Amino acid sequence: VLTGSTGKLGQNLVKGFIENNYSLILISRNANKTLDLFKDYKEHITVIQADLSSRGDIKRACDLIKKNKRNIFGLVNNAAVDIDQNMLDVSSDDFQYLLNVNLYAPYYLCKYLIPLFIENEEGVIVNVSSNLSMRSTANATEYTISKAGLDSLTRSIAVQYGPLGLRANSINISGMRGFTLKVNEILSSRNPKDVAYDDWKISQDKIPLRRRGAFSEFVDTIIFLCSDKASYINGVNLPVDGGSLSQI
Ligand SMILES: NC(=O)c1ccc[n+]([C@@H]2O[C@H](COP(=O)([O-])OP(=O)(O)OC[C@H]3O[C@@H](n4cnc5c(N)ncnc54)[C@H](OP(=O)(O)O)[C@@H]3O)[C@@H](O)[C@H]2O)c1
Repeated sequence: VLTGSTGKLGQNLVKGFIENNYSLILISRNANKTLDLFKDYKEHITVIQADLSSRGDIKRACDLIKKNKRNIFGLVNNAAVDIDQNMLDVSSDDFQYLLNVNLYAPYYLCKYLIPLFIENEEGVIVNVSSNLSMRSTANATEYTISKAGLDSLTRSIAVQYGPLGLRANSINISGMRGFTLKVNEILSSRNPKDVAYDDWKISQDKIPLRRRGAFSEFVDTIIFLCSDKASYINGVNLPVDGGSLSQI
């Protein structure tokens, strides 16, 4: 089960998982957009419509998954929003919305799907976090709070459900750069600046590896964490950031 599939990393994740023979349930707030985006992969995906800011939608999506007795074994919480404003200018509604999508949605998806994992005797959760959960930058207060909470949720689940064979880890991203899948389509219809994404929150000369991370480097890590190759990795908040967190 994957959230945020229509986003930059999400599109690359869908492609990566399918190339590695996974089938995916995509929870998306715009089912038509998602089906259209992934029309080439339609035999590998099921789309469930849900706005992740709505607890009712999340419950309905999970009930649907349970009703179909899906033999699911994994959840990747990838959807998120950002605000990019000084905290003094952020409205309480915007803060609440961000928390709903970035923190409460992963919490409730875990809460509703973990019983299914327990029933299936198999379960792995990967939360897509940021290294901003452990450092900070200007105009990111609400986002960093949400990601710090997500890291904590990850560790808590790892400890609580490890004894039942479930694993939970987060990937703490920074320095991402690359193209979305629909490059040509976007090129013809939108500002070329939207086509190539470049993490503007960290400059390249602040990254020890002195380069950006390609989408594939984050996607491969997430697929690895979901796989049996990572069977003894549990409760980790893993920075995948070219070493920037290690640098003062
Ligand atoms: N971009 C970076 O440099 C960076 C750095 C560190 C960590 N991360 C983390 O990596 C993950 C992916 O980032 P990204 O840059 O690929 O994100 P993105 O391109 O902004 O995409 C966000 C995704 O979340 C979905 N979403 C947002 N609000 C939603 C809601 N209310 N209900 C359902 N879906 C909702 C969006 O759906 P719609 O298409 O419907 O809007 C979209 O699929 C996030 O968790 C982010 O925090 C990113």
